[in-house]
Amino acid sequence: MLTITLREGADLGGFRQAVRRLAAARTAPDEVLWSVGAPSLFGDEAPPSEDGAPVFLPQAVGRLIETVVCHSDPERYALLHRLVWRVLNGERALLDQHADPLVHRLERLDKAVRRDIHKMHAFLRFRALPGPDGGERYVAWFEPDHHIVEAVAPFFVERFESMVWTILTPKGSLHWDRQRLMTGPPAERPDSLADDRFAEGWQRYYESTFNPARVNPTAMRAEMPRKYWANMPETAAIPAMVRSAPTRVQAMLEAEAAVPRRRMPEKAVAAMARQAPESLAELNRLIRRSEPLVPGATRAVLGEGPEGAAIAIVGEQPGDQEDRDGRPFVGPAGQLLTAALEEAGIDRGGLYLTNAVKHFKFIQRGKRRIHQSPTAGEVKHYRWWLMTELGFVRPRLVVALGATAALALSGRPVAVLRERGPMAFDGWSGFVTVHPSYLLRLPGDEERRRAQAAFVADLRRAAALA
Ligand code: URA
Repeated sequence: MLTITLREGADLGGFRQAVRRLAAARTAPDEVLWSVGAPSLFGDEAPPSEDGAPVFLPQAVGRLIETVVCHSDPERYALLHRLVWRVLNGERALLDQHADPLVHRLERLDKAVRRDIHKMHAFLRFRALPGPDGGERYVAWFEPDHHIVEAVAPFFVERFESMVWTILTPKGSLHWDRQRLMTGPPAERPDSLADDRFAEGWQRYYESTFNPARVNPTAMRAEMPRKYWANMPETAAIPAMVRSAPTRVQAMLEAEAAVPRRRMPEKAVAAMARQAPESLAELNRLIRRSEPLVPGATRAVLGEGPEGAAIAIVGEQPGDQEDRDGRPFVGPAGQLLTAALEEAGIDRGGLYLTNAVKHFKFIQRGKRRIHQSPTAGEVKHYRWWLMTELGFVRPRLVVALGATAALALSGRPVAVLRERGPMAFDGWSGFVTVHPSYLLRLPGDEERRRAQAAFVADLRRAAALA
C-alpha cells in the first residue's frame, strides 16, 4: 500500500502532482492510502520520483477537483483519485452519470463547498481597528465549514483592494496590505472584535432593506443560519424586526390606501368602480385592457371556470407559463395543484380558479424570467378586481393558496402554516392552505411527500366544507 500525505487544508498543487505520478505509475486507487497533515508529499513507499506526464482531464473534472479539495471530508482525495482513475480508464463522460454513487457523492461535496464560499462572501464582516501606523486596519473573523480561505481570497482582494485587512479563521488566515496577499496559519477568535461603529452601520443598513411584507423566518434561517449571526452586527436587529413585521405590513396596507399611485392611482380604481361592470365578462374586459402595475407582463391572466362554482381557488399571480398561455395554473405549480385536486377527488373543471394579482411580475435574468412576489401595495391595488370577480362567481367557499392570496382576501398578513384551515374573508367563507409552489421548493423528498399529503387533506376538507 502506498501512503500519500498532503498538506493540511486544500492542497490542490499536492494532489495534482500526486495524481500525475500515480497515473504515470498506473497505480490504482485501491493501492493508495491518502492522508493529510505532514508537509512531505510521499511516504516511505514512494513511487518513482519523476513528476509524471501531464494528465488530460475534461474541464468539468478539473473544476470539480478544484472545489472538492476544499472540502473537510478526510476521504476527499481518495474519492477524487477514484474519479480520475475511472475517467482516464475510458469513462470520459462519467460526470454525466448523476446516479453513479461516486459522482453523486462528489457532487454533494462540490455543492457544500460552493455554499460555504457563498456564505463567506455574503456574511463576512470587517471591523475597523487602529493599525500600528496610526491608520485603520480591518479585521474579520469567520468560521467556514471547509478549507475555502484561499478560494475566497480573490473576491476580497478585488472588493477591498484599497484597504489593509486581515481575515482570521480556524482554517487559516489571509492578510492584504494593498499590494500583496499573504496566507497564514489557523487563528483563534480575537477578543478585540467586540462591538464597534461598523456594527451600528450594518444594523441600520439591514433595517432599511428589510421588507416586513416578505418576512419568512424559515427561509431567512436557511439562507443565513444562526451560526453566522455572532459575527454579523446587523443580526442583532432580526428578532425585533420579525416580531414587528405583521404590524408593519398592516401599517403599509393602510398607508397604501392613503397614497395615490402614479401607475394606478386610487382615482383609477374609483373610476373603474364607477364603470360598474354588470357581468363577469364586462369586468374581464376591463381587466384585459388594463396596464400591468409593474411593466413587463404580456397580458392580464383572467380567472377561469364556471360562474356559480361551489369553490373558488385564489392563487398569488400568474407565473411565466401562465403569462405566455393566458390561463391560470398551467405551469409547474398549476400542474401540482391539478394532481393534488385529482388525488383529493375534486374535478378541476368544476372550480373557479383565479389569482390575487392578475399580471406576472418578474425580473429578467438572461433568457429567464424570475418570479417576483407582489408587494402588499400591489396586492391591495388588485383587490377591487378580485372582490368584484368573486361577487359575480358567488362561490360557497373561497380557498386562498399561500400568503399573498390570504393577504388579498383577508386584508391582513396571514401566517399560512400556523393559520391554515377555515377563515372568514370579508364576507366570504374561506379556507387557507399553502401555495403549491411552496411544495415545489421543499428540499427533502420525505418532507415534500408529507407536505403534499397535508395539502391534499386540506383540499378534501375544503371540498367537504363547500
Ligand atoms: N401560481 C399562482 O399563484 N397562480 C397561477 O396561476 C400560477 C402559479
